[in-house]
Amino acid sequence: MARVQWASRIGFVLAAAGSAVGLGNIWKFPYIAGVNGGGAFVLIYLVSIALIGFPIMIAELLLGRGTQSSPVMAFSKMAGEESNWKAVGWIGVATGFIILSYYSVVAGWSLNYVLMSICDFTNDKSPEQINSLFDTLSASGGINIFWHSIFMLITIGIVIGGVRKGIEKWSKILMPVLFVILVVLVVRSIFMPGFMQGIEFVFAPDLSALTAAGVLEAVGHAFFTLSLGMGAMLTYGSYLSKKEDLVKASVVVCSLDTLIALMACLIIFPIVFSFGFAPNAGPGLAFKTIPVVFSQIIGGSLLSILFFLLLAFAALTSAISLLEVVTAHFIDSLGWTRKKAALITGSLIFMFGIPSALSGSKWIFSEWEDLFTKNFFDTMDYLATNWMLPLGGLLMAIYVGWFAKKATIRAEFTQGSKYGSLFGAWLFVLRFIVPITMVVVLLYKVGILQVGPES
Ligand code: PHE
Repeated sequence: MARVQWASRIGFVLAAAGSAVGLGNIWKFPYIAGVNGGGAFVLIYLVSIALIGFPIMIAELLLGRGTQSSPVMAFSKMAGEESNWKAVGWIGVATGFIILSYYSVVAGWSLNYVLMSICDFTNDKSPEQINSLFDTLSASGGINIFWHSIFMLITIGIVIGGVRKGIEKWSKILMPVLFVILVVLVVRSIFMPGFMQGIEFVFAPDLSALTAAGVLEAVGHAFFTLSLGMGAMLTYGSYLSKKEDLVKASVVVCSLDTLIALMACLIIFPIVFSFGFAPNAGPGLAFKTIPVVFSQIIGGSLLSILFFLLLAFAALTSAISLLEVVTAHFIDSLGWTRKKAALITGSLIFMFGIPSALSGSKWIFSEWEDLFTKNFFDTMDYLATNWMLPLGGLLMAIYVGWFAKKATIRAEFTQGSKYGSLFGAWLFVLRFIVPITMVVVLLYKVGILQVGPES
């Protein structure tokens, strides 16, 4: 049976951009840029996207379209049924499972903040009180589980709808809405007194603010933000027609993702500076600092509703792709129906997310932190984004660069592409630049190479 394909090119682009644009862009990128001093970090991040993310994105889409399969099957088709490369596919499925389990908890916070904003939660509250609401929320296990379950149900519902009627249809609705909200918020920021200071913070690199840990974080974040290293792009690529231009598609998706991350900074930093807040507030930047600021602006509760809706929509289109990787794996390898696969895997992911939802409350898993130095939530995030994604991405680059049949790769690269002549350059980057950089990054992480503290 022929594999289902995206109904339109724009549908695919919006779905892939939807996967890439997520909490990573709007919640995480501004705060890690803030913590790492702004401009110089942003510069390293841009270089990582261009030099590492972009070539790996082409490789993933190519593996998916070439094999018409989800990650594990893709490797067994390309490398052989008995090949160990299948493990790369398995790492991908496991990573999707782990990321979605805690991603959904953060997405749940956004849903919670949408409702809180509708209820005008900052009314008559001091900045300290508004700040402490986030701590109250993260310590409220029951509320976290509630929103986590709502978010997972929506995600499962959309994935059950299928590639065209679920993923593509919803990406076509949510992504334009997301973009409109972003533009409205950026325009609002332009009129803030701190706008120029915000621009300077994001775009004027101060190299002295950069640390080795910051560089590592920028490279790691390139994988997370582009949904690379775990087969999300591979799986979306498997629904692509042979007529599509993979190089062009990758340029578009990488550019949209970067544009939106920068727009998120242009929303957040001008507001932060206008009110004299610190840009390095860390993970609480979106959930603590931003609501305080909105509470002091006319029309702030409307802006607040919009901002958290933006976060929730961005998270949803990414969560769909995470669940799709796991679901597609069980459809392809065990022949399950889509409904069965999405329901069973989605429920398991929901359950695995419960300890993350409870991580802020001290009454369960309290010894976890003593043993692993991080709570359950942070441990999962650390494992997935610092290790599993970069490792998965590195192995994919090595496979495509060195082990796959060059003729097959060349044929798939040039198929439908106007940029076939770039094949040699791309292969060079994939063979040398990506592995060398990634190995250095991973060696720093295990502490074999050392400068500065680990983040
Ligand atoms: N790219 C998404 C984000 O930036 C997260 C994600 C990672 C989605 C890996 C799918 C796969 O939020």
